[in-house]
Amino acid sequence: MRDRLIDRMVQVFGQDQKRIDHAMAVLELAERIQAAEGADPAVVQAAAILHDIGIHQAQLKYNSTAGIYQQIEGPPIARSILEGLGWPAEQIDHVCKIIASHHTADLIDTPELRCVWDADWIVNLGTDYASWPIEAKRHTVAVVLRTETGRQIARSRYLG
Ligand SMILES: [Fe+2]
Repeated sequence: MRDRLIDRMVQVFGQDQKRIDHAMAVLELAERIQAAEGADPAVVQAAAILHDIGIHQAQLKYNSTAGIYQQIEGPPIARSILEGLGWPAEQIDHVCKIIASHHTADLIDTPELRCVWDADWIVNLGTDYASWPIEAKRHTVAVVLRTETGRQIARSRYLG
């Protein structure tokens, strides 16, 4: 299932290797956090692989990759992928809620969301936010991250 989801994500992102690499980095970290913290592994995998899946549609429709547009465009794409793979409705709904709140974390706060939330932040702290001052990173790790495992990984990567 993991490989099939990755295949579908790669199909959607096409030539956009940066997005593919980002999704794979978030997946790897989300799985590490899930293994330590506990959560439904299938939901964590799917949500990590598909969390930014609406980004091209957001760009096309709104000429913006802002989180609010991704949150609108991502869930329907994820839903059709997961329905095509025969997933149960309850897990599909959970994955879609995580995708819809992965920039705000306001719709739900489940262990599965926390794994993906922390993994995305940790990856972004090393890429998009790499130039942030150390104090901003320290604040993010302390206040924004939601799992102890995520904080430990982030500290050893960026605050060591
Ligand atoms: Fe992301």
